[in-house]
Order: sequence, then structure tokens, then C-alpha cells
Amino acid sequence: MRPLGAQSALANELVGRRAFAAQADPKADAKETPAAEGATSTSSAGGEGKGKQPEHPKLGEDAGEMKKGSDNVQFTWRSAVFTTVMCVGCYAYYEVLKKRKETDARAVTKHERLGTPKLGGPFELVDRKGKPVTDQDFLGQYLMIYFGFTFCPDICPQEMEKQTHVIELLDKEFGPVATPIFISIDPKRDQPPQVDEYCEEFHPRIAGLTGTPEQVKKASRAYRVYFNEGIRNSDQDYLIDHSIIHYFVGRNGKFVDFFGKNMTAQEMADKMRATIIEDRDRQKARKERRGVESADEE
Ligand code: NI
Repeated sequence: MRPLGAQSALANELVGRRAFAAQADPKADAKETPAAEGATSTSSAGGEGKGKQPEHPKLGEDAGEMKKGSDNVQFTWRSAVFTTVMCVGCYAYYEVLKKRKETDARAVTKHERLGTPKLGGPFELVDRKGKPVTDQDFLGQYLMIYFGFTFCPDICPQEMEKQTHVIELLDKEFGPVATPIFISIDPKRDQPPQVDEYCEEFHPRIAGLTGTPEQVKKASRAYRVYFNEGIRNSDQDYLIDHSIIHYFVGRNGKFVDFFGKNMTAQEMADKMRATIIEDRDRQKARKERRGVESADEE
């Protein structure tokens, strides 16, 4: 079909010509009129031109095209099939790409997992009330472990505040799934009452742990925590140089990740959040699979 603009241009042209003919020969007007009307109806309704073929070549082309109706239908079918095949092909290709991307992502995760250092392990310490605890007592909870000492003037309090903030962020979204743990590397001065009082300042769920020098050494060695006595003024007045790291431990008691001093509470919470969601999704999928199996058994 001709565009509307062309159609009206043609009509104008015919009207113009008619006017010109009327001026030259008044009788010619009656002769030209049906052709002009026929031309307009042909291009707008698509019907075959009525009456005699006008001298305008474009009208003849139009009529010829319309006569090849069967060819038109065939062409439409062919293009429809072609379009369908192309669409299916494109969709299949898109699916392949998507799957490949997912596989790549999984491979990266796997690689990261394999790359995690072997940190953590069993420990035996005492809690804020002097009661013995082991790593087994914390199974089923996510842990955020920090090693420090209560007499630390600035770094440890800052890091403990950060830890509290991380736990608060996670609490808000997941509830109390993560437990903050403070492990003293200064067992000589950090007896349970001292640790208890110190922890009181931070998160209410914080587990403050200490123990004998041997127990503390064993726990810190498992996490490769470095600590060394620094400036010593007297037997009870000294500072300890130590590594400033938060350890993220999974519900199975296995080390997941560690966060250095430069990380913000939000960044730590985001990393932990990703693992928590991943675990939750995996657990949900497992439960659904089990649900289907037990439904089959019934
Ligand atoms: Ni410190």
C-alpha cells in the first residue's frame, strides 16, 4: 500500500489535472472524473480499478501486484516460518549463554571455596561466668570471632563496636543467627569477671571467652592470630601487639572468611549476608527435594 501522503498527493495531482483540463476543454471534465475517483478508491480500499485504466502508470502497477494474491500468501507463510525459526534459534542461543554464565559463576565460587585458608578448629575455653565451653557449643550459629584484650586502649574497643554493628545489621534482617565472640589473648589479666564487664559494653549476646594461657594459645594458633607483648611498664601494665581480624565461621563450625581492619561494618555484613542467604536457599532446596521424595513414598 502507498503511504497516506503519496495517496493524497496523487489525488491532488489528479484534481489539478482535472482543473487544468476543464480550463482547456470544458467537456474533458466529465471524462476524467471516474478515473480520478477510481484511482482514489484503488489506492485506499485496495480493490481493482473500475472503469478504464488511467494513463497514470502507478495505478497499473498497483493492480498487477494485487493480482498475484496467491504469491503474497505464500510469501507471508514463508516469512512467518522464517521468523519463527529465527526466534526459536535466538531464544535457544540466549538460554545457552545464560546457562554458561551461571556455570562460570559457580566455577568461580568453587574456586574461591578451594582457595580459603585452613583456619579455625577446635578450642576449649571458659565463658564470662567461668564455665568451660568448646567450639561444639556454638554449632548451628554463624560466628564472628575477634581476638583482643580488654585493656587495649583504642583498637580493640573500635573493632568491638564494629562487630556489634555488624551483628545488629544481620539481626535486623535474619534475626539472631550470628553470635559475636570475643576471645582474650591476655589470659593473665582477662579473668572471666573482667571479660564479663568488658563485654557488657557491647552486644548483649556477645560470648566473652578466656582461659588458661595454654588454652588461649591453642585457640589463637588455630586462627593464626599473632600477638606479642609490646610496651611493658610493670607486671600488670603492658600492651599487646596483635593482629586485628574478624573471623566469620559458618554454622558447621568451619571457617568461611576473615575481615581486616580496613573493612567497614556494612561491607562485613554484606559478605556474611551473602553466605547466610546462600545457605538458606540451599537448605530450602534440600527441604523441597525431601518433601517431594516423602510425598512419593506415601
Ligand atoms: Ni587491641
